[in-house]
Amino acid sequence: MRIQIVVASATGRTQRMAEAFAEGARQGGAEVAIASAHETTDADLLAADAIALGSGVHMGGIASEMRRFFERTAPLWLEGRLQGRIGAAFATAGEGGRGGGELSLLALLAYLAENGLLLVPMNNRLPGFRAAGCHWGPLARTNPGANAPGPTDAQLEAARSHGRHVAECTARWLAGAPSDS
Ligand SMILES: Cc1cc2nc3c(=O)[nH]c(=O)nc-3n(C[C@H](O)[C@H](O)[C@H](O)COP(=O)(O)O)c2cc1C
Repeated sequence: MRIQIVVASATGRTQRMAEAFAEGARQGGAEVAIASAHETTDADLLAADAIALGSGVHMGGIASEMRRFFERTAPLWLEGRLQGRIGAAFATAGEGGRGGGELSLLALLAYLAENGLLLVPMNNRLPGFRAAGCHWGPLARTNPGANAPGPTDAQLEAARSHGRHVAECTARWLAGAPSDS
């Protein structure tokens, strides 16, 4: 079982969420690869049983690097080549009342849904949910101006537990999936 994580991270915070997600997914039995949205190839996506997308929140939405990834991989969507995989999302935002965290998660999930993936939301029983839980996926609010780099250990726990949950869901799906799904 292989999970591809695609991440757009300008200052490393979403990258740390991706690494925690990967750690949890490995605990759940997955082989995991992490690549930036810029580097990720069509072959990376096609080789994956599950795809997890993570983005920093920029100006109320996903980072432009992730948007370029969506458009660059549109030929896969045109041919329906990612259908039947498992999909999940996570994001990292600024702290306080700045907007765009939930919208960013929805934009990531919309790409996955449009490509025909089965979406795994974050359920509120998973460890870390109180620190960085959102039903769409882990969402860590960080303070770009503070010395502490963030996300906190508790926020990383949300990404780790969701990564494990996504791996377990993928394994269950693969065990029961018809061969042409
Ligand atoms: C250009 C820019 C725009 C940003 N806009 C928002 C925003 O609209 N809402 C928000 O919550 N945070 C915003 N932030 C804060 C980032 O989302 C936050 O620092 C996040 O942790 C960055 O993740 P990264 O290190 O993975 O890029 C912005 C940061 C930058 C650099």
